Amino acid sequence: MSGTETQVQTRSQHQLASGRAWWKESSVYQIYPASFKDSNGDGIGDIQGIISKLDYIKALGVDIIWLSPISQSPQVDMGYDVSDYYAIHPPYGTLEDVEMLIKGIRARGMKYVMDLVVNHTSDQHEWFKQSRSSKTNEFRDWYIWKKPRYTADGVRHPPNNWGSYFSGPAWTYDEQTEEYYLHLFASEQPDLNWENPIVREAVHKIMRYWLDKGASGFRLDVINFISKDQRFPDIPVTDPSRPYPEGAKYYACGPRIHEYLQELGSILKEYDAFSVGEMPSVYDPKEILKAVEFERQELGMAFQFEIMDIDHGPQGKFSPGNFQLKNLKSVVSKWQSFMYDNNGWNALYLENHDQGRSISRFGSEKPEFRSLSGKMLATFLGLQSGTPFIYQGQEIGMTNLPETWKVEKLRDLEAINFWNELTQRTPGDTKLHGQTMKEMRLKCRDNGRLPMQWGPGKFADFSSGSTAPWIDTNDDYENWNASSQVSDSSSIFNYWAGILKLRKTWVDLFVYGSYTLVDESNDDLFVYARLFGESTAVVVSNFSEENVKWSIPADVKSVFAAGKLLVGNYEELQVTDIQGEAIMLRPFEAFVVHKGE
Ligand code: GLC
Ligand code: CA
Repeated sequence: MSGTETQVQTRSQHQLASGRAWWKESSVYQIYPASFKDSNGDGIGDIQGIISKLDYIKALGVDIIWLSPISQSPQVDMGYDVSDYYAIHPPYGTLEDVEMLIKGIRARGMKYVMDLVVNHTSDQHEWFKQSRSSKTNEFRDWYIWKKPRYTADGVRHPPNNWGSYFSGPAWTYDEQTEEYYLHLFASEQPDLNWENPIVREAVHKIMRYWLDKGASGFRLDVINFISKDQRFPDIPVTDPSRPYPEGAKYYACGPRIHEYLQELGSILKEYDAFSVGEMPSVYDPKEILKAVEFERQELGMAFQFEIMDIDHGPQGKFSPGNFQLKNLKSVVSKWQSFMYDNNGWNALYLENHDQGRSISRFGSEKPEFRSLSGKMLATFLGLQSGTPFIYQGQEIGMTNLPETWKVEKLRDLEAINFWNELTQRTPGDTKLHGQTMKEMRLKCRDNGRLPMQWGPGKFADFSSGSTAPWIDTNDDYENWNASSQVSDSSSIFNYWAGILKLRKTWVDLFVYGSYTLVDESNDDLFVYARLFGESTAVVVSNFSEENVKWSIPADVKSVFAAGKLLVGNYEELQVTDIQGEAIMLRPFEAFVVHKGE
């Protein structure tokens, strides 16, 4: 090795802020089983349907497939209410189907990640049936039971005023034993009592079972909610129309969270497993770092919600918010820099089964801009520091549910409960109801749950049977579907594949490199640089639907002068176009310039 080479290498190693890991170099595709592919015509997606699409997923270039819950469940919350962790929800298939799926995933060089929902179970789980049966049952202490409170006039109240995420109080009174149980979500989703070591052992056993079966890790549902402040204090009520506020202060990253996560982490480490924890209601990266700092060996990475909550209004998710690029810049940059500087790791996502579609929220649904803005978002997201997650349909630019949809067409209990509560509380307020419907169309969870658009046939070729899908298809599938995109080299699908390939080609730069925000005050463009050793990439994304003239800032001029174009979402872009003093960016234009090795 020559002297210069050694020098470069030492510098590169020096700039490796955090340890290497296979899961940092991977990307993930999330499947929502009910809506992915129906193989037997009953209107519900299933495991065999997924198996039939493995080559499609492989062609995208991802490394990991994460499935939303497939365990046995009464489906009050689409499987996030598990009644048996060792059995499969029958409409999805059998244990043998899952074994076949894992085999198929592995045969293609990919890995399977399971959704583990253990903050709560279904109320139909045998543990809860036992627990509620009597105060002396051995499972009583597996859940969180408390005595009622009574006002002076003898009216019964829940033990505290925490609200459920799905409307109303987070406690339900059980006549049988005259106590309340806690459920941060639906009343059919009682929270497990993690203070009880036997509960934790039961969770560990489930993890080992699935790891032994060939799962390569877990997505851990609301995992930062598992440790509750045992005093269970009230939350001050600030808005009288909402008597049951969110109690997150007393359970999001609660007192014993890291003790519990370390126990999970030691199992994950044994298997060199992947892990991503879902961590809502925490916006301080320092809190999340405690779980994802590389050396602590708790979790690999976490889904933080600061980007997802960016267009929520002052009265919550379904009140009008105001998305501004400058907020996105500050949030993204905060997490990018913080995790890099502190040996943590980011999970990168703009969509999942709980969110509106990113083109509808942050791009444009207009026909002339839909594909362009989808590719722009792919460029913007896919080249950041962290592990990228693509949610089914995102890779073909699926958008939110049609404007013509009435509330009757919705299936999700969060939206339905919210709507019922609101319309009962404010009868006749058509203005508020209209506004709320508009916000639900932007942000409600059903947006991401419409059947995957495979082709132009009936039911978008999601299902071949005569039974209509469990939730209606979107209107646009004849022109907007996977089969036309796979064969079109200029499609969003193939663009995404190109972005993921860039991460594989320049692993050091795009996976391990640093992040710097460029031209912070620009209101239309999101520009950032990635740097590793002698290699620099500048990622430019126009978030507006206007032409934007951009004078290339001094700090990246040398990259533009000597660099080459790696990728761009307008086909005609030329290297010479970027080498002047200023560039004219077209609507939603995005491109990447690279200099160095
Ligand atoms: C997570 C899931 C969501 C579910 C909730 C309760 O946020 O992503 O779908 O409703 O947890 O399990
Ligand atoms: Ca089916």
